[in-house]
Amino acid sequence: MTEIKGSVAVVTGGASGIGLGIATQLVAEGATVVIADVEAAALERAAQQIGATAIAVDVSDPAGVEALAAAVIDTFGRVDIVVNNAGIGPQAPISELTLADWRFVIDVNLYGVIHGVHTFLPLLEANEEGGHIVNTGSMASFDPQPGLGAYAVTKFGVAALTEVLRKELKESGSRVSATYLAPGTVRTNIKDSLRNRGDAGASALFDVDISQGPAGELRWQDPVDTGRVVTRAIRNDDAYAITHPEWWEMVEEHNETVERAFMKYPPL
Ligand SMILES: NC(=O)c1ccc[n+]([C@@H]2O[C@H](COP(=O)([O-])OP(=O)(O)OC[C@H]3O[C@@H](n4cnc5c(N)ncnc54)[C@H](O)[C@@H]3O)[C@@H](O)[C@H]2O)c1
Repeated sequence: MTEIKGSVAVVTGGASGIGLGIATQLVAEGATVVIADVEAAALERAAQQIGATAIAVDVSDPAGVEALAAAVIDTFGRVDIVVNNAGIGPQAPISELTLADWRFVIDVNLYGVIHGVHTFLPLLEANEEGGHIVNTGSMASFDPQPGLGAYAVTKFGVAALTEVLRKELKESGSRVSATYLAPGTVRTNIKDSLRNRGDAGASALFDVDISQGPAGELRWQDPVDTGRVVTRAIRNDDAYAITHPEWWEMVEEHNETVERAFMKYPPL
């Protein structure tokens, strides 16, 4: 079990939204926190606001994530908690996505997490007391919706990565563990995700503020409360950190469709 008080934590995508909420809560619980983000100005502001250290990184660049880890070790001597959270949420129907669109979403949302795990896992394993990895996915990995094809592909990937990692760590008796964070609707800047894309060329992706549609009726969580969900999951070594337990019915409906497919025919 990773002790939060006195730990050194790194949160990617920490300049805004859920990452900033998680970082705020980690600071409140006594961690020394590094926030890492691609938006330099917002990152500096956020770090000052919550009393964290800012380190600029583009998580889609493996060398950048290595440099982030090296800077954290140089400054603090160790790292105990890593939250691979940086992500984007633009939409487009699968039939319209360009290959550059696929690559952009996968590079940030899936490779960003892969780079974080690949780089930080050996550092956590080197600690006598181990450590904890939290990977931010989405409810979209439990019940994917139209328009979110590229996004859901990455979130299924992050879910698979985290579940397998957790099982392998338990099997090997490691003192490092992993949690899959599956946020529902949280009040953040994800509705403006394309701000983090350079010149895209031809692209079908567009930003959507889903709070302006039917989803506006849902419960929208404050990111610091998402942070509380995360620190509780770290303290209890939970496999999943769930922000919207009331959405189970929707997930169950999805799972029942799978169950019906299993039951439809006898074995051949
Ligand atoms: N907001 C929600 O309702 C919701 C729901 C489910 C999942 N999520 C997930 O939560 C995570 C955080 O998103 P958010 O909602 O807080 O959005 P946000 O836009 O408020 O924050 C995302 C942060 O990630 C940073 N970022 C983007 N690309 C980056 C890159 N290549 N390298 C480093 N940093 C980068 C952004 O600059 C930003 O600070 C994402 O993985 C998203 O998929 C959000």
